[in-house]
Amino acid sequence: MKKQNILVTGANGQIGSDLIPELKKIYGDSHVIATDISEKPNAETPFEVLDVLDAKAINSVFKKYQITQVYHLASLLSAKSELNPRHAWNVNINGLFNIMDNCVENKISKLFWPSSIAVFGPNSPKIDTPQFTTMDPDTVYGISKLAGERWCHHYHFSKSLDVRSLRYPGVISYKHEPGGGTTDYAVDIYFKAVQEGRYECYLTEDTILPMMYIPDAIKATIQLMESPSHSLGLRSGYNIAGMSFAPEDLAKEILNYIPDFKVIYRPDFRQRLADTWPESVNDQFAKADWNWQPEYDIKSMTEDMIKNVRMLTPV
Ligand code: SER
Repeated sequence: MKKQNILVTGANGQIGSDLIPELKKIYGDSHVIATDISEKPNAETPFEVLDVLDAKAINSVFKKYQITQVYHLASLLSAKSELNPRHAWNVNINGLFNIMDNCVENKISKLFWPSSIAVFGPNSPKIDTPQFTTMDPDTVYGISKLAGERWCHHYHFSKSLDVRSLRYPGVISYKHEPGGGTTDYAVDIYFKAVQEGRYECYLTEDTILPMMYIPDAIKATIQLMESPSHSLGLRSGYNIAGMSFAPEDLAKEILNYIPDFKVIYRPDFRQRLADTWPESVNDQFAKADWNWQPEYDIKSMTEDMIKNVRMLTPV
């Protein structure tokens, strides 16, 4: 079998931090090239500083490492995008074009690109949101993700690019600090619960959103990328479901471990974003095409998060 050389953009982000070690297990340490806009201490190796807005630099890194597969994770999340719409559009869409054009030119065998539940909007059904339905996102992030999905679909059919994508729900993990998303409260709450015993939540207590624990998100990503191309009927983004809950549900679970935990609810601008997103999604296509099945629920996730966050917290 031909050796694969995998390039990951946005490697320092939430998904990258957990995905890269898994890719290294499959392809070998020296075959997974981490890239990001800047290098952080303890960066994965090999590492290259790479701005996805620099098409020439992408081409040189592809050539330098003879890249065969790409996970293009670099993106601005929803809250950050809302505060800087043009920059978000530029990174999320022009960055995608730069990657896709270089993938076509360099005959990259497979490209992964993350989409989001933010592709849905206020007129999409809120519960069990179907794969195909009204999509009228009115967040900067959601607009860019829906456009990106359509471009992925277009490049697949017009340029034969083998591109694959998932509509991630809010992803919860402990290796990476929250990075500007709306669903990030569900990460932050664990750290504040363990470290301070109280949390100020920027969403109302009853805001239900689709969520997923990081091992399931990584499993879905790798499973999708390892599926035979002919089995994949969708080249936009697959709905994938994990669990759904509101901040008050999560707080209740955390109370089982930290009995005096207190949450204050002070919704800010992120409430509007969350209000336009689904509460749960229907993932029948992911189940049918590549056997998607999540493992974690709110209980097993909370047990694992509390254990890991405690381990990361100095006493
Ligand atoms: N987790 C993302 C965000 O909150 C949505 O997919 O920005």
